[in-house]
Amino acid sequence: MLGRRILAAVAFVSACAQAQLSITNPSPSSWWVSGAVNTLAWTCGTSPYSAYTVVLSNSDSAILSGALALIANVPNFDCSFTVNEQQSSLQVSSTYTLSLANIQNLTDVYASTQFEVKAAGSVYPTSSASSSATGTSTAGSASSTSSSKTGAATANYIPVGMSMAAALVLGLVVA
Ligand SMILES: *[C@@H]1O[C@H](CO)[C@@H](O)[C@H](O)[C@H]1NC(C)=O
Repeated sequence: MLGRRILAAVAFVSACAQAQLSITNPSPSSWWVSGAVNTLAWTCGTSPYSAYTVVLSNSDSAILSGALALIANVPNFDCSFTVNEQQSSLQVSSTYTLSLANIQNLTDVYASTQFEVKAAGSVYPTSSASSSATGTSTAGSASSTSSSKTGAATANYIPVGMSMAAALVLGLVVA
């Protein structure tokens, strides 16, 4: 009985101590706009991980035939990442999944969220973190702030189907 209680207490404590990572933007209610400057944000303060590869996938293989490493290496301490117009030039679809994965093993997914990419020129939800970043897809002040942000992380496209190891070998990724 006492043993059980101790076990339960240990389980409780370790569950509480276990740091959590979740993606705060985008989300099922906070979309990205195709070709615009979009915001990726996560709970950096409670994350046990130091860096991520941002992986995009879609349940519709006509949109994306496999996992796409959108951003190779984003440090956790950045807390958010400004996805530039080029990185955001995605096909419009409501069935995207965005994941934060182990930079050495893309199938080791730490956190993921469903989200939608709306047509270029769409407005953001008013409560979205991305609404303050830019209202439209035009390259204005928002993109100049994004370029300083992207400098901190290595933003590279890795061809669909290429393994992280292969990408590393080819020098596409700065690990
Ligand atoms: C990559 O991660 C997956 C899921 O965590 C795991 O099953 C697999 O063994 C890992 N692969 C390597 C090479 O570490």
